[in-house]
Amino acid sequence: MGNVTETALLFETYPKLKGKIPWMPLGNFPTPVQKLDNLGKEIGAGSFYVKRDDLSSSIYGGNKIRKLEFLLAEAKQKGANTLITGGGIGSNFSLATTIHGQRLGMRTVLILMDQPTAEYAKKNMLLDYYHQAKMLKTSRRLRLFTIGYQFLINIKPLKGKLPYLIPIGGSSELGSLGFVNAAFELKKQVETGILPEPDYLFVSAGSLGTFCGLWLGCQVANLKTKVVGVNVSSANTVGAATKINKIYQYLWKTDPGLPRLKVSSSDLTILKDYRGERYARFTKEGMEAILLMHSLEKIKLDGTYSGKTLAGALDYIKKNHLEDKVLLFWNTYNSVDLSHLIKDIDYHKLPTPFHKYFELPKQEFEAPL
Ligand SMILES: Cc1ncc(COP(=O)(O)O)c(C=O)c1O
Repeated sequence: MGNVTETALLFETYPKLKGKIPWMPLGNFPTPVQKLDNLGKEIGAGSFYVKRDDLSSSIYGGNKIRKLEFLLAEAKQKGANTLITGGGIGSNFSLATTIHGQRLGMRTVLILMDQPTAEYAKKNMLLDYYHQAKMLKTSRRLRLFTIGYQFLINIKPLKGKLPYLIPIGGSSELGSLGFVNAAFELKKQVETGILPEPDYLFVSAGSLGTFCGLWLGCQVANLKTKVVGVNVSSANTVGAATKINKIYQYLWKTDPGLPRLKVSSSDLTILKDYRGERYARFTKEGMEAILLMHSLEKIKLDGTYSGKTLAGALDYIKKNHLEDKVLLFWNTYNSVDLSHLIKDIDYHKLPTPFHKYFELPKQEFEAPL
């Protein structure tokens, strides 16, 4: 499993959580922090850094691995051998759950919904298939059904006898702890001089576990960093405040020694002008940001999440004159290329409802990377 840590850093500060909250090592942490000298120069910022969560696993990385360290540990604890999760047809979380679940002997059932087609979405579907996920195409109504199902499977007498259900994006209270933990990792990197304490941290806000976990984690870890989310789906500050309070309650119930905290939506910043027409519909600004990052720093971003997030971050930095601040961009997109695994797979092998995504024309603005 590579260069793994022995314990979640959160448990080092709050040892009472250890053993009560499920966790297992899955990825390569800490992820590197890199100074973006060229991009910084381009925008006139002297202290611009990137947190390379794209390198969180040499098997398949990205932001999901941190959530899965908690979620798959609970699934194992409950004795589940099947994981049910879902998202858009190109869901990175579904693929990450499938790959890492399979390594732990668990198979996945994926409930996938419509989204604009794209090269990455096609790749992810083929990789889901390659890793033997059972793929179901569904409408939103069934999604509601699955939330009800989760409620059912958490009823005590049934525990462990039924599949383990993970909500979209893995952004339950438990999954979001991956990013509370990530803030402690960041703090350690600040303390060891890898980067100065960031004034601003920019991250995607989709199903919100990443943003909310980081926001809460920075508070609990005593970092002054302002976490700025960039909406890529339907994230908003009201939903985010509710989620942060729930994650906090979950932690506090396990260790009442945690500092008291209650957040309201006015404490939070989520930029809402960078998503474009809909989730996973590419934008011109997002694609420009992707090309800029790639040409100056050789780092690959994606059009659904990280590209739009960088576009939002660059605009926010400019409009608020933050060039002299310490800035951190959190790269959430996996960078392990698994194309070789699927080069010979014909998409007709997938269940029929997925074929059309291979036949539709390319969407506008898709980056030629
Ligand atoms: C690459 C990437 N970045 C960011 C996100 C957003 O994270 P969250 O859903 O926790 O808001 C996702 C979620 O699917 C993702 O796949």
